[in-house]
Amino acid sequence: MTVDSSTWLEPDPWRSATVATMQIEPFAVEQWMNEYETRCEYNLAETCCDSITLAELLDLGGVGPGYLDRLLSMKLTYGEIEGSDRLRGAIASLFETQSIANTLVTHGTIGANHLVYLTLVSAGDHVVSVVPSYQQHTAIPESLGATVTRVPLREERGWALDLDELAAAVTPSTSLVTLTNPNNPTGALLGREELSAVAATCDKVGAWLLADEVYRGIDQEGSGTTVSAVDLYERAISTGSMSKAFSLAGLRLGWIVGPESLLERVVVHRDYNTISVGMIDDVLAALALENAETILGRNRALVRSNLKTLSNWVDGEDRVSWTRPSGGTITLLRYDGHLLSRDFCVGLVEGPDRVMLTPGSALGMEGHVRIGYANASEALIAGLPLISRYMDGLG
Ligand SMILES: Cc1ncc(COP(=O)(O)O)c(C=O)c1O
Repeated sequence: MTVDSSTWLEPDPWRSATVATMQIEPFAVEQWMNEYETRCEYNLAETCCDSITLAELLDLGGVGPGYLDRLLSMKLTYGEIEGSDRLRGAIASLFETQSIANTLVTHGTIGANHLVYLTLVSAGDHVVSVVPSYQQHTAIPESLGATVTRVPLREERGWALDLDELAAAVTPSTSLVTLTNPNNPTGALLGREELSAVAATCDKVGAWLLADEVYRGIDQEGSGTTVSAVDLYERAISTGSMSKAFSLAGLRLGWIVGPESLLERVVVHRDYNTISVGMIDDVLAALALENAETILGRNRALVRSNLKTLSNWVDGEDRVSWTRPSGGTITLLRYDGHLLSRDFCVGLVEGPDRVMLTPGSALGMEGHVRIGYANASEALIAGLPLISRYMDGLG
């Protein structure tokens, strides 16, 4: 039988109408970063652990510059489509119970999250999202036509998740619960016990749990690495990347870790928007992850020492209050006065000292600013007193 291609090439009016209604709100934090990141002098909006150079990576990886010779003879094809086995094995080893088959390589955590939503969410679904969070976790499911119930972390509870409030929000029709752990922007951390309680809530209704764990591995206490949701619950998915705890955002390389049957469904979408990640990025990420503890060790020392600097400043600065973060690279500060957070931050970054913070308004948290404390220590040490000086000028 011959297929008449004119029939199937014809635009489908119903389909076009559907596409036209699929709007998504602007990504406020990313717009703010684009606007000021390259224009500031002291970047205290940075969310990555102080990024490293290629030379530093080779050094931390225990190999010399000669390691790059292997890249010279590498034919730059698409490479292994789902990520090299070497890389996927290294990703799996960040978890307690995962193997290569449970990993899929993506364009950063941002690509990983997007693929999970494309796979799991359809119009009419019910999603529960713990907020504040990375805007992807509410905007994308809403753009796909889901109803999103927000469960807020409350300032008066020190940003601790209210497990009862979460349980009340999850109904038999909930298909997905989503959170960031450690939390962006508060730095609150769910440990094994709380995460198990979240998993139990999901399990009651058979919901998936998407844990964006891009800040995992640099906690303030103990080993620095909290258990992953994916090692606690059979319908959990963990997303993460080289960007934050591994100081290598420039690789633009992330992952989805989850049940094999789910990844098979993700691949259907991934084939349409990823094909593969860069072969050079794959090799360098594998090298970094094979030396994960060395890089995480460097960054735990950095975040722990920098948080002491920040904590000392907050203690001596009456116009600012906070709950000390437990993990990650960022936290929220509440500031005195009536200035809107965007005005506060624009005045600061466009002022003579050009110090950059992130306005709470970009995170649905008016009255706060988000500070990143994992950038180079010198930026924090120099930048904090300049914030105080700026507030002096506000009167
Ligand atoms: C919670 C969270 N998820 C995902 C991302 C995206 O990170 P990347 O794509 O660099 O891994 C960010 C970046 O700020 C983030 O804070």
